Amino acid sequence: MPSVEFQEANITITADEGQDLRKIALKNKVSVYGGLGKLFDCHGFGLCGSDRIKVDPKDCVTPMTWKEKLHLNEKSGIRLACQTKLCGDATVSIAPALAHGEELKEGLMVFAATLVFGGGTLFFIVFMLFELAGKPLF
Ligand code: FES
Repeated sequence: MPSVEFQEANITITADEGQDLRKIALKNKVSVYGGLGKLFDCHGFGLCGSDRIKVDPKDCVTPMTWKEKLHLNEKSGIRLACQTKLCGDATVSIAPALAHGEELKEGLMVFAATLVFGGGTLFFIVFMLFELAGKPLF
C-alpha cells in the first residue's frame, strides 16, 4: 500500500492504490481546502476547483482529467485532489488550495464592497429623483 505525506498537516498515511487524494485526506481528517474554498466545495465532483494540491513525484498519481484541465494550467503542476488517484508513494502540499482560498476571500470582499457602494449610489440616485420630482421619500 502506498503512503501519502500531507506536508502542512505533518502526517503520513497509508492508503489503497486507486483512491483519490481528497477521500484519503478527508478520511484522515486532513483538509485539502483553504479559506473560503471550504464553503464552496463540490464534494468531489471536480466542479469547484477548490481542492488544489501539489503532488510530488508527479508519476505517483493518475494523469490529469478533463475536469482538471478546465480549471488548471497543465504546466502548473497543480492538481485537484478529488480527481487525482494514488498510484505510488506521494508527498502532497495544499499550498495551492490555501492560495486559492485567499483569492476567493479577496474576490468576495471586492464583491461586497461593490454591492455596498453600488447600493448606496442607487439609493442616492433614487432619493434625488424623488426630491427633484417634489415627492420626498422621507
Ligand atoms: S472538490 Fe470540487 S473540484 Fe474537487
